Amino acid sequence: MIRPHLIFLSTVCSSLLIMGCQETPLLPAGRVDALIPAPQSVTGLPGEFRCEGVLNAVWPEDWKAEQEVVQDWFAKAGIQLQAGSGGLVFRRLEQMDGEEAYALQVDAEGMAIEAATSAGLFRGWTTLRKMLPVECEMGCDDGFTLSGVRIEDAPAFGHRGLLLDGCRHFQDVDFVKKQIDLLALHGMNVLHWHLTEDQGWRLAIPSRPRLTEVAAWREEADGSLHGGFYSREEVQSIVAYASARHIEVIPEIEMPGHSSAALAAYPELGCTGDSLEVPARWGVFKDIYCAGSEETFTFLQEVMDEVVELFPSTRIHIGGDEAPKVRWEACPRCQQRIRDEGLANEEELQRWFIGRMGRYLKGKGRTIIGWDEILEGGLPEGAAVQSWRGMGGAAEAVHLGADVVVSPTSHCYLDYPLRSTDLEEAYSFNPMPDSLAQGPGRILGGEGNMWTEHAPQELVESKVYPRLTALAEVYWSGPDFTGRPNAYADFLRRMDGHYQRMDAVGVDYGLESPPFDLKTSSNAEGRLLAEVVPKGRGVDGRGTWSGSGDSLRAGVPFVVDGPGEVRMEVGRRGQWSGIQERYALDGHRAVYRPLKLDYVPSPWYTGGGDSALVDGRLGSADFRDGAWQAKQGQDMSATVDLGEVRPVQALGTGVYLYQDAWIFQPERIIWEGSLDGKDWFDLAQSETAAALKRDDRQMRLDVSVQSMAPGMEARYVRMTAINAGPCPHWHAAARSESWLFLDEMVVR
Ligand code: ACM
Ligand code: ZN
Repeated sequence: MIRPHLIFLSTVCSSLLIMGCQETPLLPAGRVDALIPAPQSVTGLPGEFRCEGVLNAVWPEDWKAEQEVVQDWFAKAGIQLQAGSGGLVFRRLEQMDGEEAYALQVDAEGMAIEAATSAGLFRGWTTLRKMLPVECEMGCDDGFTLSGVRIEDAPAFGHRGLLLDGCRHFQDVDFVKKQIDLLALHGMNVLHWHLTEDQGWRLAIPSRPRLTEVAAWREEADGSLHGGFYSREEVQSIVAYASARHIEVIPEIEMPGHSSAALAAYPELGCTGDSLEVPARWGVFKDIYCAGSEETFTFLQEVMDEVVELFPSTRIHIGGDEAPKVRWEACPRCQQRIRDEGLANEEELQRWFIGRMGRYLKGKGRTIIGWDEILEGGLPEGAAVQSWRGMGGAAEAVHLGADVVVSPTSHCYLDYPLRSTDLEEAYSFNPMPDSLAQGPGRILGGEGNMWTEHAPQELVESKVYPRLTALAEVYWSGPDFTGRPNAYADFLRRMDGHYQRMDAVGVDYGLESPPFDLKTSSNAEGRLLAEVVPKGRGVDGRGTWSGSGDSLRAGVPFVVDGPGEVRMEVGRRGQWSGIQERYALDGHRAVYRPLKLDYVPSPWYTGGGDSALVDGRLGSADFRDGAWQAKQGQDMSATVDLGEVRPVQALGTGVYLYQDAWIFQPERIIWEGSLDGKDWFDLAQSETAAALKRDDRQMRLDVSVQSMAPGMEARYVRMTAINAGPCPHWHAAARSESWLFLDEMVVR
């Protein structure tokens, strides 16, 4: 970690006060108060600089690609640049410390950016850009005024990145370049570009045509083809685009797992040699590169030969995560390799595999980085580690003396819903807890990870932003800054200005947090009462309840009879956003009646508490939506007291199905009734006995049944869902306990 000039928020605020900053500035010229990431030091100076639409500029000789970026920006702003002093000066100052450090000064004489490095000059430019009026992003040809200020700045961490998964969903070249622009805007310096996966291979390799003919395409469930790949010229143009903005593109070529697409193109690279399809479903697949076959290494070396031609990054990411070893266990060649190399097991075989590729790349002047699973068989020599399963891998790798990049699922997974990681959670991330600051390894920095299983291109930005904006400040300004008690409130205040710039450059950012809470209760008559409660900053909501067709407003309770869906449009910052939230509800007979569970729900999936099965709220197609209650390896049985003996005509529940996540339908569901809570009789049984059949779907299944005979009456109703048993033999987690998910105990 580069030690920043430790000037804290209070200093920033007081210098802003000196400059006459208001709580809510209305686009004044000196918009230092909206800077994100926060610079390390900001000091107000007397005087101001006025540009009337023509600006003198002085550039270092060897800064041509960057100069073009700056010139293009001013051209779009409608400001004419001409050579000459007394305007904008970029100057090298060799004695300045830090790879990306810079100083920026605005006074009556002009605007000067000084740095020892080209990267530092570019970061300084980015800060200046964000101080210019937001109109300049579109056009401000009558010029601008900037108040005097001096900024001295350097990033806390040297590695500040975004992982972009181009495989689960393909993104076009212009989109990737736009993401690079946005990284630059946020002072980030790494695009970790995930280019090979089970569901698609995205990098053209001239000697291996089937990668682009076969591995780049998958057939979706509806018969359509999804895919694409980047040609050599496209990659070169992306890398050059990034390089001009001082963003390193680190390609990720996954091995030995997540390689189904490559195996579909070249089955001889797998242990079985069986022909495979490029899968169209998500998960972890057991067919991986054969570690015993020399053909595997010939192939991967050919790939790496092209990779090092195309990507100048010092590190190459080799993946290494989620590689099941079942094929290696049964493969004679892999077993022979284990014997020949004196390895103890398949984990060590993975270390040997990665180590061999690491040596190959070292011969080409590169080093490797892999996900924290590469620690499992012992850290391959010279490898850096990217910790994603919490920070444990980071701790182990630092202990072993390795370089480490952190992006734990707890704070950095931008594909996760806001329910799991909201803006504040992302902002609260500490990439370097004290325990890791001692070394001997180094925390280089961190990333935000944008996996795209559930995000076609048009959804990517709304998931990445604004959360990556928070991580950008975490990685640039550092935990000494973001860990201060009032830092998040100040960040939000600056966000309001930053949003205007994101609007101006057309970022399709999403929300800061889930916009609403859905509250349910029962009224005096025992009917379900629901309320969509606004939650985020400046959030409003309007919508409809399908059960009655009535229109709704957030914050106003409404009565729910029978099943239906609430659809709410989110308002934010005074505008309707078009973003929709949906909740399925059922106002049935048992809502909020006393309920007894014969099991303790998983703490991860409580469904909201003890009343979850009678709260009127149904689960969605997302098993993490908070409405599902679950238990692993056990039956789930619940008894509700209806308060009086009454007719029971129909019963139901929702069950979740997602076998890749070990979630199976129950083998059976049994409903029983009782008049007194002691003697029980059958009410109904579900017909779903297909539990152990292989099924690739991920969905809520509705289980509704009629009572067995007309005229059935009960005061107590018991629902028992029978767990499907251990994951079956064909499953990647064969013999592990399966999960059972229920959302509601509907009684009519
Ligand atoms: C990962 O999320 N599998 C690195
Ligand atoms: Zn093998």
